[in-house]
Amino acid sequence: MKVLITGGAGYIGSTIASALEDAGHTPIILDSLLTGPKAFVRDRIFYQADIADKVALKQIFQDHPDIFATIHCAALIVVPDSVSDPYNYYIDNVVKSMELFKTLAELNHPRVVFSSSAAIYDVVPNFMVNEESPLKPLSPYARTKYMMEMVLKDFCKAYGLKAIALRYFNPIGADPKLRTGLHVKNPSHLIGKLVQVALGKEPVFHLTGVDWPTRDGSGIRDYLHVWDLAQAHLKAVLNFDKAIAEGKSDDTDYTVINLGSQQGVTVKEFVAAFESVYGKKIPMEIKPARPGDIAGAYANADKANRLLGWKVEMTTADGIRDALRWGEVRDQILG
Ligand SMILES: NC(=O)c1ccc[n+]([C@@H]2O[C@H](COP(=O)([O-])OP(=O)(O)OC[C@H]3O[C@@H](n4cnc5c(N)ncnc54)[C@H](O)[C@@H]3O)[C@@H](O)[C@H]2O)c1
Repeated sequence: MKVLITGGAGYIGSTIASALEDAGHTPIILDSLLTGPKAFVRDRIFYQADIADKVALKQIFQDHPDIFATIHCAALIVVPDSVSDPYNYYIDNVVKSMELFKTLAELNHPRVVFSSSAAIYDVVPNFMVNEESPLKPLSPYARTKYMMEMVLKDFCKAYGLKAIALRYFNPIGADPKLRTGLHVKNPSHLIGKLVQVALGKEPVFHLTGVDWPTRDGSGIRDYLHVWDLAQAHLKAVLNFDKAIAEGKSDDTDYTVINLGSQQGVTVKEFVAAFESVYGKKIPMEIKPARPGDIAGAYANADKANRLLGWKVEMTTADGIRDALRWGEVRDQILG
């Protein structure tokens, strides 16, 4: 089966491409290389173009009329950058995604799997959210995802698209075969920072926020291995029509599915897990919460299990181990 992956040179898109390939399918990569590295495309069928480039999209589907579905991962993803430069985020993640979806409808390639985010959820008292939980996107980045979910549903209703929006929680780790991993040099999220300290690239880890109403005061998250996340996309494509039929809430061919481990892990617990895999203490300083930080959330992933037959297979420790292994080879692969 052929599957188009936008953003297939990125961290998650490239891992999905490996998962598809390992299962005997053919990923086709569409990426402008705006942020993703060429090395992550490997020897895959590749179109270097923008997602809003209609000419390129027509060419792709002319060359590969048997593409079964499009997995739309391409986006800008750095939350603080979205605060300082919202224009670029709304253009890339909203305007260009709309152009992509409209073109897919016009070309009659209606199946879309969309990379959404758990960042759109509001905080709930016990921190566990299902797909019906209240939404409250706090950053421009999160609002682009929230908006695109609404746009996508409207497009499904009006233009005959069929879409599954996957709300990812916090992906960690790398491809277990180390083909790809996190490409950014100075990652701003928790595991990236810890790896930087472990590799001696940063002197100390700053634990930001210890006054949240969680069991130890630090924020709570839901970490899932990026390989498990990739497997969920494979299953979403393989079970696409059934998942839409059983998952839709009205007559529109659209459904939303959480992808998480179902386990809330606090930042302090995560640091302890990291130290245990790494085998050494991480120098740490406590700092106040950053503007826009929230207590957090973890997933109820029953719907993913029911509709896709998916649940996480790998542990937080597996994710930490693969992030550290990737950290050691990253510079050789990417320079
Ligand atoms: N990484 C996370 O923690 C996380 C969490 C939740 C959701 N997501 C979503 O998952 C998706 C993939 O994230 P990632 O971590 O792999 O990001 P990434 O930055 O590694 O990959 C994004 C890719 O999209 C490409 N791209 C961006 N704009 C483009 C455009 N206009 N045309 C063509 N290509 C373009 C980039 O070159 C890059 O290769 C994103 O939609 C992101 O919002 C990520």
